[in-house]
Amino acid sequence: MKRYLVDFKNEPCEGRYFDIVIIGAGIAGLYTALMLPKKLKIAVLSEKEIDDSDSYMAQGGIAASIGDDDRELHIKDTVNAGCYVNNAKAVKVLVDESQQAIENLIELGVNFDRDDQGNFYRSFEGNHSIPRILHVNGDSTGKGIMEVLVRDAENAHNIEIIPDVFALDIVENRGKCCGVTVFYKGRSMYFISRYCIMASGGIGQLFSKTTNVDVLTGDGIAMAIRAGVKLKDMEYVQFHPTAFYSGDTNDRLFLISEAVRGEGAVLRNMEGKRFMGEYDRRMELAPRDIVARAIFHEMNKVSSKYVYLDATMYDKDFLQNRFRQIYRECESSSIEMYRDYIPVTPAEHYFMGGIEVDLFGRTSMEGLYALGECACTGVHGANRLASNSLLEALVFGKRAAEDIYGKISCGEVCSLPELKNEDNLDEKNKEVDFDQFKRSLKVLMEKHAGIIRNTDDLKGALNIIEDKLSKMEASSLESVEAVETYNMYQVARSIVISILESKASIGSNYVENYSEHNKVLR
Ligand code: SIN
Repeated sequence: MKRYLVDFKNEPCEGRYFDIVIIGAGIAGLYTALMLPKKLKIAVLSEKEIDDSDSYMAQGGIAASIGDDDRELHIKDTVNAGCYVNNAKAVKVLVDESQQAIENLIELGVNFDRDDQGNFYRSFEGNHSIPRILHVNGDSTGKGIMEVLVRDAENAHNIEIIPDVFALDIVENRGKCCGVTVFYKGRSMYFISRYCIMASGGIGQLFSKTTNVDVLTGDGIAMAIRAGVKLKDMEYVQFHPTAFYSGDTNDRLFLISEAVRGEGAVLRNMEGKRFMGEYDRRMELAPRDIVARAIFHEMNKVSSKYVYLDATMYDKDFLQNRFRQIYRECESSSIEMYRDYIPVTPAEHYFMGGIEVDLFGRTSMEGLYALGECACTGVHGANRLASNSLLEALVFGKRAAEDIYGKISCGEVCSLPELKNEDNLDEKNKEVDFDQFKRSLKVLMEKHAGIIRNTDDLKGALNIIEDKLSKMEASSLESVEAVETYNMYQVARSIVISILESKASIGSNYVENYSEHNKVLR
């Protein structure tokens, strides 16, 4: 395995110096930047334009325990959804600090939806015992929050948001992280820092069907793999039950928020029959892994590519107001939600695993933090409770910021090592078709590491992945596309190995050939 994707020599290579470099400009990255002291010089690196992130797309909202009465129940719902393999300490922190996170957002200027009396509108989603999900502009929660964070970060004199930077590798010297190498404006360079925060998001693009934007190729996690940083729970991949089915396409699928089912919409099979009762007593509001598997099963029974979501029990005004974005998207495909069923299919949506972190976002490498979807606090267990992800980014982002603040005065900028691979890059094989490699990986992962897994099939998949990795390692990885593809295969390899090493079929890691007693009942 290559340690560094691009060989650098220190002297001629351009470098920029910061106190903190944050890789990723979604909610986790920007919120943490704003929580850090103003005296620190911070760079927030964005792979593309800043609005090209999953954070902007987030619909449902933020689960939060406002007032003390809901805490125990929120904890219970989180661990029940997660199949009781969650990190209990992380769950307690998440719930206990949720109200503070909401208050911080309000202070920054986020306007959560409220009723005439000024109380928060609180919604239901799957496996929540009570309505506790706060939202912004109906189904535009992510956009509502991101607009405030971007504005505040752009106005902050100490924060520089830098678009079009593709992070390549974590640089370390004697075990301490001292920055990253990047491609920027057609050249390779360093961003050197006292602390680094990985907030690079998810891995949706490893699968054929995903709600994730196209930059989410697991790059931060692959950087951690190459640097030997510890990972955790890599077998837990969440499929959202209801992405809009718009024909066979390679584009990201538009999400139909779980909040639509939270308001009472039901699932119907191709015969128009409501089927969730055959799978779980909680019906459409069962945990996501259960609903996604039920839909998958119904689709397979009749070789259909979708089932239906029926929200026709509501009138047009209600639906248009509560789900503005979703209503518009359906309408653009000639579907009127108050009258027509919506074709939906499960799609990869969220990664519970990732870079292992403690309760302050600290990874196994000194000076390196990880936050948001690329990190694994263990808070979600084997299946995330709906709308706990933005909350996780906020709560642990603030904790990481406080931890860094407590340490930074004694930190020094470390000197850079020479970044050299041992292999001989003179014998480059330029024949790799990276686009084709990417496409075939998506199909492979969807088929073998998706909603239903089988360890016998996965062994074959692992061989294919390893063969492709060797081919890429023998080639030169000098473009963003090449590096992205290599990253995708590295992360895929780690996911497949984790599934093969897993002992039980739990939550989102549903392994059909494991024996019945290994299946967790909730
Ligand atoms: C949704 O709106 O269904 C997505 C929210 C989430 O993923 O938690």
